[in-house]
Amino acid sequence: MRGSVFVGTSLDGFIARANGALDFLPDDPEPHGFEEFLASVDALVWGRNTYDVVQEFGTWFYGEKPVFVLSSRDLKEPPAGAVVTRMSGSPADVVSALEERGIDHIYVDGGDTIQQFIRAGFIQRLIITRIPVLIGSGIPLFGALDHDIALTHVATRHYRSGLVQSEYQIES
Ligand SMILES: NC(=O)c1ccc[n+]([C@@H]2O[C@H](COP(=O)([O-])OP(=O)(O)OC[C@H]3O[C@@H](n4cnc5c(N)ncnc54)[C@H](OP(=O)(O)O)[C@@H]3O)[C@@H](O)[C@H]2O)c1
Repeated sequence: MRGSVFVGTSLDGFIARANGALDFLPDDPEPHGFEEFLASVDALVWGRNTYDVVQEFGTWFYGEKPVFVLSSRDLKEPPAGAVVTRMSGSPADVVSALEERGIDHIYVDGGDTIQQFIRAGFIQRLIITRIPVLIGSGIPLFGALDHDIALTHVATRHYRSGLVQSEYQIES
């Protein structure tokens, strides 16, 4: 199983405001590789809070790609055409359940969820797109660790609008 992250953050490292608002992200960013990245994964694994926000968007960007939402509670009705399954358990439990379904590459999203999967050693690739804004506080991309994790820088790309995207590999 390979795990990847593709996420947008403020320059000061937040993926959302404390109340979950994403208003600091560009509404219509220039293409920066999201479609190509999405096409490269077999399934998405989201935390419940991410699902609740995306489910309200009114537009579903993920087609029929399977989305596994980690939650201890029933989910709100998915949008028409979305393929959504609730799961719970440790990252290791989730990874082994997905492997049994033949899934080989997951896109992990949501601050808490990304942090759990990084801590458990299930993320090998990180693509972080920094938006040139400081928001001061919010939901952080990264959190506490019990040991350092070394990354290898793969590439940094910059875009006319000021987006700066860095890609890293985590060696397992
Ligand atoms: N900037 C970006 O690119 C980007 C990307 C993704 C998300 N976001 C934003 O980030 C925010 C969400 O991040 P977040 O850190 O609040 O949370 P999150 O990771 O999306 O969701 C956390 C919740 O997922 C459930 N969960 C997590 N791990 C679980 C497990 N192993 N088993 C069962 N349930 C599990 C729990 O909910 P229950 O209480 O239901 O069990 C937990 O409270 C949203 O505002 C979203 O829009 C931004």
